[in-house]
Amino acid sequence: MGSIEVAQADITTLAVDAIVNAANTSLLGGGGVDGAIHRAAGPELLAECRLLGGCKTGQAKITPGFRLPARYVIHTVGPVWNGGGRGEAELLAGCYRESFVLACEYDLRTLAFPAISCGVYGYPIDEAVAIAVRAVRAGLSENESIEKVIFACFGDEVYSAYQRALA
Ligand code: APR
Repeated sequence: MGSIEVAQADITTLAVDAIVNAANTSLLGGGGVDGAIHRAAGPELLAECRLLGGCKTGQAKITPGFRLPARYVIHTVGPVWNGGGRGEAELLAGCYRESFVLACEYDLRTLAFPAISCGVYGYPIDEAVAIAVRAVRAGLSENESIEKVIFACFGDEVYSAYQRALA
């Protein structure tokens, strides 16, 4: 089974097969990690995303990485936290599950995830991290071809939450 790593890292710097973008349903860019990825990938990424017709929450779509060190970007849309009663947990788990589906379709070996929904979308970090770890462990056990997943954390709070969850 592939390995899981946690790193304090700007995900746009990681030379993995695919980095995952915490996007919005338009796929036309935004702030946070979405903004950082578009800035680092260059304008071709937005041009490519325009052709995708958006993305539903809990789903994922893939594009080349263009000027990024990563070969691909998997764009997924996390749920906005609304108190937990609107299926947020299942939608968030879907972001990880659908990212694995695309990684396998494209025969990718190494992936990096940001803490999806833990910024602007306000998901409680410990709950989101528990969902992420559970979903990635399931993805690795179901997909032998994936060799490594990196949780790329931006800030101590998320980093320590992943370390606790993986301990
Ligand atoms: N590398 C890794 N992680 C990052 C980076 C980066 N360069 N920049 C931000 N992050 C972290 C944030 O600190 C947070 O922990 O990514 C996590 C997700 O935060 P957001 O980027 O705000 O994403 P999210 O909460 O899913 O909200 C998505 O924000 O940027 C818009 O267009 C996006 O509308 C969408 C919404």
